[in-house]
Amino acid sequence: MPVYFSRIGMSDRINVDRENIWHPFTPLEGGDPPLLITSAKGIYLHTNDGRKIIDAVSSWWVNLHGHSNPTIAEAIAKQTSSLEHVIFAGFTHEPAIRLSEKLLAMLPSGFSKIFFSDNGSTAVEVGLKMAIQYWYNQGKDKRKIIALNGAYHGDTFGSMSIGERGLFTNPFFPYLFDVEFIDLPIQENEEQVLNQFKSILSSGNVGCFIFEPLIQAAAGMRMYSAALLDKLIQYAKENDVVCIADEVFTGFGRTGKTFASDYMENKPNIITLSKGITGGFLPLGVTSCDNKIVNAFKTQDFTKTFFHGHSYTANPISCAAANASMDLLTHPSCQRQIEKINERHEIFKNQIQGSNVIKDVRVLGTILAIEIASGETSYINDIRKSIYSFFMDQNILLRPLGNVIYVLPPYVINDDELDQIYAAINKFLARL
Ligand SMILES: Cc1ncc(COP(=O)(O)O)c(C=O)c1O
Repeated sequence: MPVYFSRIGMSDRINVDRENIWHPFTPLEGGDPPLLITSAKGIYLHTNDGRKIIDAVSSWWVNLHGHSNPTIAEAIAKQTSSLEHVIFAGFTHEPAIRLSEKLLAMLPSGFSKIFFSDNGSTAVEVGLKMAIQYWYNQGKDKRKIIALNGAYHGDTFGSMSIGERGLFTNPFFPYLFDVEFIDLPIQENEEQVLNQFKSILSSGNVGCFIFEPLIQAAAGMRMYSAALLDKLIQYAKENDVVCIADEVFTGFGRTGKTFASDYMENKPNIITLSKGITGGFLPLGVTSCDNKIVNAFKTQDFTKTFFHGHSYTANPISCAAANASMDLLTHPSCQRQIEKINERHEIFKNQIQGSNVIKDVRVLGTILAIEIASGETSYINDIRKSIYSFFMDQNILLRPLGNVIYVLPPYVINDDELDQIYAAINKFLARL
């Protein structure tokens, strides 16, 4: 049963929140107080004062099967009463073993190891460190890293270093390591980016190429073609460069296929995963790699061990949630839902395309992004505030990236609910 506080009680709780809690990506001064969520079910968030809000962004892109999904909840409950956690060095457990089997069966062929951590940033850190140590273990100096302009890979120092230098990273700039950045390859600059890439490769010492495959999410859902990325991976591999696909966002059906890497013929050596892996219930990160990487660590030389681990590595409860989430994901009804969301997005895109208040509208799998023609496209475009409050007034959570509105619903959303979101977007566009 949801707990309802009286109005007085509620402002009291929010005041305690204000006093005690530092929220992510949120200024400490100014702005509206947070909403108090007392429960969530399916695609809806329930507030203490009786509002029912559509979670059209899957709570920062983590939720796949709806909130409080009973199958995942049950798997978690069962796991908590048998094994809550155990050190993962020298010990193992059934939920992690089962999850490794499931993930390796889903990942592109050739992937052979699963390394657990606890969020997207750490999954990326692990991937980077594996790639760097891959060369170290062989005594080779291939220290250059290539990344894409506009990238976002997380908030730890390694992941910040390979990300866009700007608003999020400015205070830390002097502490970030050097990376060679290439532009996002789009149709207009294809030749130029390919040449830039080749020229960096031929300058020597390149050890690693890391990218968000097909879509840069935090940069404003910027999409690019699989064919181009395929070429970049091919060139990188021809030059013996370790390729890392950061699928923290794109994994588990978001782009229409299980992994964005499934769109390419050339596969990365390392894939990083998190977000949707537990269906949005619990934190878990995974870094998977192929035998090329593994072989550089298969040695009796203790000094070449991968010395990385977190206290909660492979937490059994998180693994149990992930096992349940993977079973739901691979079920034909979920796959059909993913296709349906894509079809509906495409239809809506065709309806609004050409509007003079839209700079661009794009769809990839279950992701719909609408770039509003209002000033420069940027995370700090001021229109974001009016977009957010307009949709919140309609009880729809759409948290735009500046002037880019995106819809990224849990897969359990139905036609009427999608219609409600599209109708609200039409209403918003009509006001511009
Ligand atoms: C592509 C990508 N990589 C890594 C991350 C970082 O994940 P986390 O927020 O779980 O650290 C994100 C988060 O948005 C992401 O989109």
